[in-house]
Amino acid sequence: MSSSNTSSASTPSGLAFIGGGNMASALIQGVLQSGTPSKTIHVQEPNESAASLLKSRFGVHVWSESGDFLRECDTLVWAVKPQIFKLAAQQVAPFCQNALHLSVAAGIPSSSISQWLNSERVVRAMPNTPALIGKGQTGLFAAAGVSPHDRSRVQTIIASTGAYLWVHDETLLNAVTALSGSGPAYVFYFIEALCRAGEQMGLSAQEAKQLAIGTFEGASALCQQSSEPVALLRERVTSKGGTTQAALETMNQLQVGTHIEQAVQAACLRAKTLGEEFGA
Ligand SMILES: NC(=O)c1ccc[n+]([C@@H]2O[C@H](COP(=O)([O-])OP(=O)(O)OC[C@H]3O[C@@H](n4cnc5c(N)ncnc54)[C@H](OP(=O)(O)O)[C@@H]3O)[C@@H](O)[C@H]2O)c1
Repeated sequence: MSSSNTSSASTPSGLAFIGGGNMASALIQGVLQSGTPSKTIHVQEPNESAASLLKSRFGVHVWSESGDFLRECDTLVWAVKPQIFKLAAQQVAPFCQNALHLSVAAGIPSSSISQWLNSERVVRAMPNTPALIGKGQTGLFAAAGVSPHDRSRVQTIIASTGAYLWVHDETLLNAVTALSGSGPAYVFYFIEALCRAGEQMGLSAQEAKQLAIGTFEGASALCQQSSEPVALLRERVTSKGGTTQAALETMNQLQVGTHIEQAVQAACLRAKTLGEEFGA
């Protein structure tokens, strides 16, 4: 086992991350920026290159395997791939009693996490990658054993990466996964298509990229700031017989909207299947 720093025995108050990849890094950056001292943050990360990156970037304690450092942590954030969650839980469980568990793993049900870690204090979160720049959208679900104090602890962690939304029914997390968890990839897909179209019409790659990204940014901000329905904002851009109408009619003929709905439904189904596959 290795650590960048020497761990000190104290009342549990630390924050541990199990898995120190992309999503953990976004959360660690957020909590550090919102004032959590790096010496109270521990990361279990067996991958050597990921471990050294975490040490140099954040100055947190990094451990290659489970150990007594976990006893110093009252909150554990689970940021491993769903496929290895159960194995990692078996490694961690002997070292953590009465901790609050916050899982960002797609699909793994809170009942499985409770069972593997012998704790009812389980919150599931579904963040997305804009959390890396403090612009994340996270869906949250609390199991029955989670106290109001636990909820506010979770909110403090998650709010450091952007906005959040509590859902009352755990199955809705599959919808959150499909919409905002995977959503950045849909936006990138759309931007890529706009860029290709721009280049086909003679713009340079750089020009097309600037216009496509800027349009997404501006339209999103307009939506956010306006109290009017999105459909009305769209209609305002669509003059009768004009260019936007020509594009939207083509999209409607090709059933682009229906196909997007079907794609998001496929992601939702995959989230459900992942839970069934790796949650048992
Ligand atoms: N990325 C997203 O957009 C996104 C969005 C929402 C939710 N999530 C969820 O976030 C979780 C993490 O995703 P990610 O993209 O951050 O994955 P990632 O970058 O692959 O990070 C996971 C890290 O955990 C390490 N690991 C493997 N076994 C471990 C163990 N026993 N104990 C501790 N760490 C271990 C992995 O090392 P190795 O590489 O050596 O295996 C890897 O460095 C996933 O469950 C995913 O569903 C991700």
